[in-house]
Amino acid sequence: MRFDEALTFSDVLLVPRRSDIASRRQVDTTGRFCRRIALKTPIVSANMDTVTESEMAIAMAHVGGLGVIHRFLKIEEEVAEVARVKRAESIVIEQPYTLSPSDTVRDAKRMMRERGIGGILVVGEGGRLAGVVTTRDVVFERDEAKRLDKVMTRRLITARPDVTPEEARRILQEHEIEKLPLIDKAGQLKGLITAKDLLKNELYPNASKDSKGHLLVGAAVGVVGDCLERAQALLDAGADALVVDVAHGHSGHVLETVRRIKKSRPSAEVVAGNVATGEGARDLLRAGADGIKVGVGPGATCSTRIVTGCGVPQVSAVMDCVRACRGAHVPVVADGGVRNSGDITKAMAAGASCVMLGSLLAGSEESPGYTTVRGGVKYKVFRGMASLGAAIGRRVKEHSAGPAAEDVAEVVPEGVESVVPYRGQVAEVVHQLAGGLRSGMSYCGARDLPALWKNAKFVRITPAGWSESKPHILER
Ligand code: XMP
Repeated sequence: MRFDEALTFSDVLLVPRRSDIASRRQVDTTGRFCRRIALKTPIVSANMDTVTESEMAIAMAHVGGLGVIHRFLKIEEEVAEVARVKRAESIVIEQPYTLSPSDTVRDAKRMMRERGIGGILVVGEGGRLAGVVTTRDVVFERDEAKRLDKVMTRRLITARPDVTPEEARRILQEHEIEKLPLIDKAGQLKGLITAKDLLKNELYPNASKDSKGHLLVGAAVGVVGDCLERAQALLDAGADALVVDVAHGHSGHVLETVRRIKKSRPSAEVVAGNVATGEGARDLLRAGADGIKVGVGPGATCSTRIVTGCGVPQVSAVMDCVRACRGAHVPVVADGGVRNSGDITKAMAAGASCVMLGSLLAGSEESPGYTTVRGGVKYKVFRGMASLGAAIGRRVKEHSAGPAAEDVAEVVPEGVESVVPYRGQVAEVVHQLAGGLRSGMSYCGARDLPALWKNAKFVRITPAGWSESKPHILER
């Protein structure tokens, strides 16, 4: 029997190379999640139920990264999360929320509350714009049964559907209004431009967006049960990439699911995983995957390697898969085990095109995990998707009366439940991580990712080398 050697992040360091980069700001970190999705900040939030739902996905896309909505939701719930991201921002809202003149103040208040909006367009017969109701029109109205045509504002400033963003900005400013309905010559409502969206465009210059100005979002699907129906529904809702994601991605089920999705929706971008070998990556490529997710057991909450004895240390796994993908122009996503920005640089230097993070982002305000306080310090709950808690959570969802005891006893967890320190807004966390990556790339003399792949030189280090690498003043 032959033993291959495999290394992970703390086994290696990148050797500093000659650099003519005067400032970190000159470094372009643009990476890729799949064939057709480029990310200026090559960081993706993990499809875990304590990491990514719509709030996290919106915040990640704002800073140039991406969020992948987890799949441990009913189909309609996951679809709603995707739709929330796709609607969060656009140059033109093509299908604004509307009510009719005979709807009531109660209807308007409910829609504003449920959709988180401050104004609704009122559309009359034949799709003609009749007026607008804003929070101000309804908030103090005691008679909730009053028709909207009794409270709405009728005199509206509007623009033609082909108005440019600059023109729209000028009109909004000149009339001191926040919403600009777009109507065609026949008076039909064709869309809406809001001041909020225009300002967001200026606020987030690196945002990951599609051609219509909507934020990008990914969504996960499994490989059994309703997975194809789910995939169709998510794509219909506007998901920009699907992630076929199971713990052991080099399996017949995964290959078949990728094939079937690509057959029914050839233009869909499908990232598949998780694998840890070139062989696994090659099989996924042959099945039609547009991105390969790499990582078996490196994650902070993973116990797969302990429970099963299987896995490959992450830097070697990434390198092996990158070799297999060379020539296919399919990016590798390094998923799991990243503990700091230095690990991101190492993963990218090993050939990855972006990293997927769980634990580093789970403490953010925008993650869906519960907040808890221990000893006066704020934490957020973070759990492996194969942990006992997550498995019970899924069974509770499936059986409204709760899972049977024997059903729970059958679970063999491959993950743990824990907490991570609360870290505030994810934009701040990502700013620090991306800054570290930029700096790391400049140490390697690399202005961009292709240069990093070409220039990067790793050295293997000893435990003493690793101990020297960490701040050690307190150890004296
Ligand atoms: P980090 O280290 O960033 O890793 O928290 C996130 C990745 O961990 C994987 N994951 C799991 N792996 N058991 C596992 O073996 C689990 O319960 C589990 N939950 C998440 C997943 O790939 C994620 O993106």
